[in-house]
Amino acid sequence: MAVDLLLGLQWGDEGKGKIVDVLTKNYDIIARFQGGPNAGHTLEFDGIKHVLRTIPSGIFHEDSINLIGNGVVIDPVVLVKELEGLEQFNIDYKAKLLISRKAHLILPTHRLLDAASEAAKGKAKIGSTLKGIGPTYMDKTGRNGIRVGDIEMANWKEKYRALANKHEGMIDFYDVDIQYDLDDMEKEFFAAVKKLKQLQFIDSEEYLHQALRNNKPILAEGAQGSLLDIDFGTYPFVTSSNTTAAGACTGLGVAPNTIKEVFGIFKAYTTRVGSGPFPTELFDTVGEKMAKIGNEFGAVTGRPRRCGWLDLVALKYAVQVNGVTQLMMMKGDVLSGFKTLKVCTAYKYKGETITHLPYNIEEENVTPVYTEMPGWKEDLTKMTETSQFPKELNDYIDFLEKELEVPIKIVSVGPDRKQTIHR
Ligand code: GDP
Ligand code: IMO
Ligand code: MG
Repeated sequence: MAVDLLLGLQWGDEGKGKIVDVLTKNYDIIARFQGGPNAGHTLEFDGIKHVLRTIPSGIFHEDSINLIGNGVVIDPVVLVKELEGLEQFNIDYKAKLLISRKAHLILPTHRLLDAASEAAKGKAKIGSTLKGIGPTYMDKTGRNGIRVGDIEMANWKEKYRALANKHEGMIDFYDVDIQYDLDDMEKEFFAAVKKLKQLQFIDSEEYLHQALRNNKPILAEGAQGSLLDIDFGTYPFVTSSNTTAAGACTGLGVAPNTIKEVFGIFKAYTTRVGSGPFPTELFDTVGEKMAKIGNEFGAVTGRPRRCGWLDLVALKYAVQVNGVTQLMMMKGDVLSGFKTLKVCTAYKYKGETITHLPYNIEEENVTPVYTEMPGWKEDLTKMTETSQFPKELNDYIDFLEKELEVPIKIVSVGPDRKQTIHR
């Protein structure tokens, strides 16, 4: 048995949560491997919308085991709120949710450090979700972090205090105006840790190894997107983890040769939330129309998402870095009613036309080169099979498959679980 991976290929919010939920029936275990509550994964079924932050998107399926891997950073306060949200749906999370002892904890002071760092950057800010992600991964790689396994030990509060005191000194050093009441934040934090302790903590790499030996299919769920990867994304406007395929190996402890399918999810256009370069971004009424029809507001922060045409230069790069074997195109329905669709197939860069992603993709360095295609008028949201697709949509899909050299196996035509068409 093997591990399949599901990853976002753009700047996040591609619709990963929806597709993980759709695919869960094929797997025994769904495992998140990186990121933390900066993620917001939306699922919709039976007329109800759910947003998950740390919990894997398989949790609503009866027989699924959902694992939070060692590569994830966990804020107990957020996780407990997520659990409370599940209670009304009678989800037996004590049985179905497993947490790696090696996952790192986001402390209240990590959130404050995130805020201080962003305030100090001023205009150059990353546009972080301010969930403490960067500071927590910094403590992880700096070898100062506190892990889930630590809270099972007697002396962990001393370790906590020492680290929190150090953080307070660092916050002062930033010399920015951040108002906070750490006592209150800590009360909330320790109450959440107490609840967290009711969950099952495991040695997850061993658990997954045994699961593979017992032929249990596993789906690894990515968060964020490839262009937010700490190494391969639009640095420094990225998140602090490896969001690409290799992150699943380090974030779960599964070996590269156990990975089989790599599902790459992309929107039929492009969005980005937060700062950083975005070559195909639209600043006109076309972009506004996409944002409006696509309801492009962040699931975590509610911030409006920047919108633009599909960027095949960037998408090809993501396909390459991840070794994508199957593509899934999301939000095709949002493009209904656009007379002409544009797809960026190259960049003008230093006087040349290039088709690879260069080091600098800021506006002053690259100009997108577009291929134009006729749009379609038909509403896709009630369609259930590919035979109902308008010709222009089929042409759009065929064009992308030819350019990307990977088949598009799913076309999503609405947020609901049922609005998913297999090809
Ligand atoms: P994720 O972070 O990749 O899981 O994506 P988000 O949940 O942050 O953002 C995707 C948004 O698009 C959510 O509001 C989904 O409900 C919605 N969505 C997903 N697929 C489709 C689709 O095919 N059509 C439309 N209109 N909305 C979709
Ligand atoms: P999902 O999993 C979209 C963006 C933030 C910011 C940058 C750094 O829902 O697709 P961070 O909080 O990590 O320090 O923010 O990354 N970002 C996301 N954008 N979807 C996400 O997750 C994101 N997680 C982080 O907006 O620009
Ligand atoms: Mg999201």
